[in-house]
Amino acid sequence: MTDQHIDIRPITEEEWPEWARAGTRAFGGRFDPADESQIRGIIEIDRSLGAFHNGRIVGTTTAHTLELTILSRHVPFALVDAVSVQPTHRRRGLLNRMMKLQLEEFQERGEFLAGLTATESSIYGRFGFGIASWGENWTISRDHTEILNVPQQTGETRFVDPEEMRSIWPQIFERVRHERNGMFSFPDPFWDLFQHDPEQWRGGASGFFHVVYETDGGPTGCVSYRLQSGVVIVNMLLGENLEAERALWSFCFGIDLMTEIRALARPVDDPLPWLLINTRKLERSVRDELWLRLVDVPAAIEARSYDSEARVVIEVRDQFCPWNQGRYEMDVSPDGALCKQTTRSPDISLDVSELGAAYLGGVTLETMRRSGRVDETTSGAVAMLDRALAVDRQPWIIDM
Ligand SMILES: CC(C)(COP(=O)(O)OP(=O)(O)OC[C@H]1O[C@@H](n2cnc3c(N)ncnc32)[C@H](O)[C@@H]1OP(=O)(O)O)[C@@H](O)C(=O)NCCC(=O)NCCS
Repeated sequence: MTDQHIDIRPITEEEWPEWARAGTRAFGGRFDPADESQIRGIIEIDRSLGAFHNGRIVGTTTAHTLELTILSRHVPFALVDAVSVQPTHRRRGLLNRMMKLQLEEFQERGEFLAGLTATESSIYGRFGFGIASWGENWTISRDHTEILNVPQQTGETRFVDPEEMRSIWPQIFERVRHERNGMFSFPDPFWDLFQHDPEQWRGGASGFFHVVYETDGGPTGCVSYRLQSGVVIVNMLLGENLEAERALWSFCFGIDLMTEIRALARPVDDPLPWLLINTRKLERSVRDELWLRLVDVPAAIEARSYDSEARVVIEVRDQFCPWNQGRYEMDVSPDGALCKQTTRSPDISLDVSELGAAYLGGVTLETMRRSGRVDETTSGAVAMLDRALAVDRQPWIIDM
């Protein structure tokens, strides 16, 4: 059943409280008015869609106007968020319609990349999103947290209250995000919300504790963690260098009366497993993090830099955004990139979601070829493009 009589349009300021309540309810929560102003702060009303049925909001989605790091470049990026349909109105095509409207809007605005983090990995492939980055959740007993080569520390760790954290965290984050593919910017209202730390997002654990590592030159790292029944839950730990990261891990591992440390969504190439003496005791589980969508294939390909030369014709399938569908001649090298429509026969054929997955270098096209997702018609074409797309550090995101 489709509901064409359900109107989908941007919400107004007056409609925002109902939109927020509906969105929270769809995720199984209850909207707490105590969080209203901070959550409102991160919402761009004109980019927030509501699906209206008889005047009531039954579907929500929004986009944040951000920028994303790709090989030290920063490109416009639309982060899709708060995607929901009320349990009373599911599987009638509302998400499909909202997503279509959003992607058309991104294209009109010249936002050639969109992304999101997904509650379920079965939802977004059909809309052309591919898994561009993975994260690892860690668990380790405190008994096994001895670190190799404990470094000479030139600085100190110190607790900071949420107000001071609010000024320190963005500085550290800004310096680190420029070096990591996939990381996106967080404008000020996101940090206000982080400082506010809504109780409904704590999952029954304590509010945040914030600890900074600083040397004579100032802060170089921060960790924000919660405590719950003897467990330290590390939400965000970032250091500008190895010394800061090691100092902050040593701090977390040294919190008396705690038995276990858990860390959420760490980079898959994080050095910590290589610092532990008893590496096997670190339990690691991997899950998808950033789902990336090339909204405008040639613009996205030309926006990236490439470490080696590749000249290939790719055939892109994109049923959801038909303006992308077609053959493109890619001519990329460390000197620049060109991507133009062509009628030449393709060397590689793939779905736009596979291109999104490979775009940040988090997976090779060869892996996807071996899984049957990518077709190679000219031998060696996949290997050549993989060399051009390769990155030194795996993509990673922090999703507040
Ligand atoms: C996920 C959600 C928004 C889907 O909304 P919806 O209006 O029911 O989705 P649609 O009817 O437009 O479905 C579009 C397609 O996606 C599929 N789909 C939708 N939700 C799915 C899910 N959770 N798992 C697998 N497939 C799903 C549908 O089967 C349909 O497939 P088809 O095109 O092959 O027929 C809704 O179930 C929801 O609000 N879930 C709880 C909150 C949530 O998880 N939001 C996502 C945040 S990232």
